[in-house]
Amino acid sequence: MKLLAPSLLSADFVNLNLVIQIVNESPADWLHLDIMDGVFVPNISFGFPVLAAVQKHCQKPLDVHLMIVEPDRYISKFAEYGAQYISVHYEACIHLHRTIQNIRSLNVHPGVAINPHTSVHLLEDIIADIDLVCLMSVNPGFGGQKFIDNTYKKIEQLKNLIIQKNSKALIEIDGGVDVYNAQALIKTGADVLVAGNSVFGQKDIARAIHQLKEEITKP
Ligand code: DX5
Ligand code: ZN
Repeated sequence: MKLLAPSLLSADFVNLNLVIQIVNESPADWLHLDIMDGVFVPNISFGFPVLAAVQKHCQKPLDVHLMIVEPDRYISKFAEYGAQYISVHYEACIHLHRTIQNIRSLNVHPGVAINPHTSVHLLEDIIADIDLVCLMSVNPGFGGQKFIDNTYKKIEQLKNLIIQKNSKALIEIDGGVDVYNAQALIKTGADVLVAGNSVFGQKDIARAIHQLKEEITKP
């Protein structure tokens, strides 16, 4: 798959309505929502009131990335707010298998995000149960950081694991994605590219989405 998921984190929240409208009218596939608690990551983003507003107006599937400790406490609430994908961090879940079952039971696609230092091999016994792996290509917490090149190797390793375990999981890349690396990431095996600063940090958001989507879908 070749999907683009703009990340709202870098958007101008004063103009949320306009931003969502641009995304709705664009070839973006999903909208990526970063939830940060100031504990798992050294930053706080936004919570349920913003999510409610987004759900009301956004016509794209909502891809929720939980950068929070004890995600189980809030999973049903995120499902209520219309999440189609919920990714929890491997590093934040003691009983990851239970958490994944919990997400699945709410008819939401479960995903697991891993930090740059976390080996993809640790997913060996969960990969068949999940629909998405979010490979962090920056240390989570902030938009606009530099892409970590080791991610290419991790995509290849993850692709092999997915094939070996007969998993249907999509490979999502999150952090530092732009028009210069998008095509190479897809060619290496990525399915979904998250893009924050390279979309919402640009003057012409619609054009930025078009350009990224063009890079991703290039034959
Ligand atoms: C980082 C978040 C990302 C972030 C990506 O912790 O998980 O989704 O929005 O932003 P860029 O694309 O600017 O690196
Ligand atoms: Zn994210």
